[in-house]
Amino acid sequence: MAIRNVVKIGDDVLRKRCREVTEFDEKLGAILDDMKETMIYADGVGLAGPQIGLLRRIAVISPDGEDFYELVNPVITEQSGKQLCREGCLSVPGANGEVERPQKITVKAFDRHGKPFTLKAEGFLANICCHEIDHLDGILFIDKMRPFGK
Ligand code: NI
Repeated sequence: MAIRNVVKIGDDVLRKRCREVTEFDEKLGAILDDMKETMIYADGVGLAGPQIGLLRRIAVISPDGEDFYELVNPVITEQSGKQLCREGCLSVPGANGEVERPQKITVKAFDRHGKPFTLKAEGFLANICCHEIDHLDGILFIDKMRPFGK
């Protein structure tokens, strides 16, 4: 495994739509391992493909540093409720703001071996999933945030 360089705002790779993963091979597993290691090293709760310069629909998530999720080709199929989330991003150093997100979501995705699964998430986990899936479409939280107290 290796710690990857985290791409920062200003790099075009953060603004592009990522392609679906079609090869569920060892290379994909190695990339996901690197992403997990990089996320832990950077003390983040999530990391998406473009953040290590890869335009692939992949993300790793850990709300608490103990539970880990890998999402390949994730799609939000259901959402309900609203929550106001305080967000930051490893690719946007120094910025924080509030973003409105759904309270509950259902995500359909694949694991690293190509097996489909469904993740039902709410609260903070739903928040992170939405943030990371936005990255896969070139969307950053600063596009949606509002300043505190407004
Ligand atoms: Ni981010």
